[in-house]
Amino acid sequence: MPTYSDGLPFAHGEHFKKWLAPFIGTTAWGLEVGSWEGRSALWLMENILTHPLSTLVCVDTWEGEAVQKAEKMDFALKERNFLANTSQYRAEYRLIVKKGDSAKILRTLPVERYSFAYIDGSHQAPDVLTDAVNAWALLKRDAVLIFDDYDWPSGLGEVHEPKPAIDAFISIFRERIEILDRGYQLALRKL
Ligand SMILES: C[S@@+](CC[C@H](N)C(=O)[O-])C[C@H]1O[C@@H](n2cnc3c(N)ncnc32)[C@H](O)[C@@H]1O
Repeated sequence: MPTYSDGLPFAHGEHFKKWLAPFIGTTAWGLEVGSWEGRSALWLMENILTHPLSTLVCVDTWEGEAVQKAEKMDFALKERNFLANTSQYRAEYRLIVKKGDSAKILRTLPVERYSFAYIDGSHQAPDVLTDAVNAWALLKRDAVLIFDDYDWPSGLGEVHEPKPAIDAFISIFRERIEILDRGYQLALRKL
């Protein structure tokens, strides 16, 4: 049984299964920005990346954001839980961990390799826009890009929220994308 600090299961399975249906049981590569304790990563491995040659790349600093640092959250525990929860898939070399700032790590990954990307890292608008643009280059045609927390209110002003970054991205890329859903999460397809 996986260990999560809050004990809750992954909440977005129904939507993810709809958006990522073309990749279930295929040799697809997926990218996750923001893995925390591995809840979404594990769900992706168990429900989408079920083919023995499929792979998920997980990018995280395991340092959280400024607010969490101020709360003195135990990041080492989160990382330990992630490593324990994903041990089986890491041992199979199907879940690859890239520890570090996504702004730097994404620029080292192979372009046009990935069938989907899930952006759930930093919530700061400049970081989300950077993740979106960097992930875009890594995605194949027809790949699916999913943003978490589209409507999340930080209470600190909009540059501290994902929404303005996601809105800017979909506005600029509007002739190259198809919006699949716009709710608490926003999903789009690369045309
Ligand atoms: C909301 S959590 C991810 C939750 C996870 N996707 C899940 O569903 O269980 C956000 C994660 O993003 C990571 N993060 C924040 N800023 C980052 C950055 N600049 N680069 C990489 N990871 C970052 C944090 O350390 C944290 O683990």
